[in-house]
Amino acid sequence: MSAIGIDDIELATTHHVVRLEDFAEANGTDPDKFRLGLGQDEFSVPAPDEDIVTMAAAAAAPIVERCGTEGLRTLIVATESGTDQSKAAGMAVHRLLGLPSRMRVVEMKEACYSATAALQAAVGIVTRSPDQRVLVIAADVARYELDSPGEPTQGAGAVAMLVTAEPRLLEIEPLSGLNSADVDDFWRPNDSTTAIVDGALSVTAYLDALTGAWTDLQEQGGPAIDEIDRILYHQPFTKMAKKAQLHLAGLTGVELDDRIVASPADSAGEGPAGEGPRDTGLATSTLYNRRLGNSYTASLYAGLCSLLDHDEDLAGKRIGLFSYGSGSVGEFLTGRVVPGYERHGRVQAVTEALDARVPLSMTDYRALHAAELPSSEDHTTPRVSTGEFRFAGIRGRARLYERA
Ligand code: COA
Repeated sequence: MSAIGIDDIELATTHHVVRLEDFAEANGTDPDKFRLGLGQDEFSVPAPDEDIVTMAAAAAAPIVERCGTEGLRTLIVATESGTDQSKAAGMAVHRLLGLPSRMRVVEMKEACYSATAALQAAVGIVTRSPDQRVLVIAADVARYELDSPGEPTQGAGAVAMLVTAEPRLLEIEPLSGLNSADVDDFWRPNDSTTAIVDGALSVTAYLDALTGAWTDLQEQGGPAIDEIDRILYHQPFTKMAKKAQLHLAGLTGVELDDRIVASPADSAGEGPAGEGPRDTGLATSTLYNRRLGNSYTASLYAGLCSLLDHDEDLAGKRIGLFSYGSGSVGEFLTGRVVPGYERHGRVQAVTEALDARVPLSMTDYRALHAAELPSSEDHTTPRVSTGEFRFAGIRGRARLYERA
């Protein structure tokens, strides 16, 4: 059977950013609470004419341009920031990108986990029909109430992945560890634009799911800890990945490097192999998320981009990925990095996109957060974002999108 996995990957984010230094000053909080306590420096904020559709299209457009649409018969958008109760956000993405009509398009949801379900569904489709390719896009806007503990962990981003046979990036291995439990740690009722969260419970539910998924992976005959070279975690804030790393070290009895750092330069210069705790890429995989904030379903895969873009040559190395979605589902899957994978193409584009975000003053940020677009009235959004795709407004209760 041929190898199946991620052939290409791209990351996109929003027009605006909030710097947690400004946020801390406005709130009279010690900035170290965010920098060290949560491991976050900034968070992305959508302009009024951006949403998950515009980010999803922006992430997928370069992949479609590079790889074409031959054999592309499925688009799955994974999100917990759905724009409609019925119509999949992917329908608008499908039109914006000019994808073929002979396709299925669907949306998946289970908090921050669903991108992994989408990835596994894509692997299943390609296993059955290796000449087909599947576009998986994880896109989310993380929104908590103003002045709530979750507020500094907001963010937004989208990661698009092309799943194919004989992939050029990451071969997904067949075994994975699973864990599900009905927990009310985080949810967003139909009438709310912000998530409701029991922060402390969400942290313990995450770690419990890690225990369950890791134990299941071992029971399924999956790789032992010393057979996994790099480990990625879902990152609602990067300190959570550090907590997960320490938890996994406790579960396995292996000392794992739990340092998270603020810049790529700080992640370089590891000590010689064999000395000290094992480096599993925690520092390199958390660099983008420190600046994006939480991107819910996209967060784990933004971590994958960060790892591939900042770590040493990982050709042939095995990566473990722990995916968590509140509610709750955990999955620990593994993949092998394909020798000859593209290493340097993305880092400049992602860094430029992060640097180009326009900072919001606290007054403007709070006004933007409070503004809710009524879906019951015709509305034209102000032209603020400068990207290729924009949310133009609402007409007859339907959402309108444009490509520049
Ligand atoms: N300097 C350095 N660290 C500081 C600090 C300072 N001045 N002030 C506080 N901290 C540390 C705390 O010690 C704590 O560290 P710890 O987690 O290692 O114990 C950390 O900052 C967080 O502070 P704390 O006051 O405990 O929590 P909080 O009220 O900021 O809430 C969350 C944190 C994660 C619960 C909150 O952001 C939240 O609800 N987030 C959304 C839900 C979520 O992301 N859940 C994750 C699982 S999905």
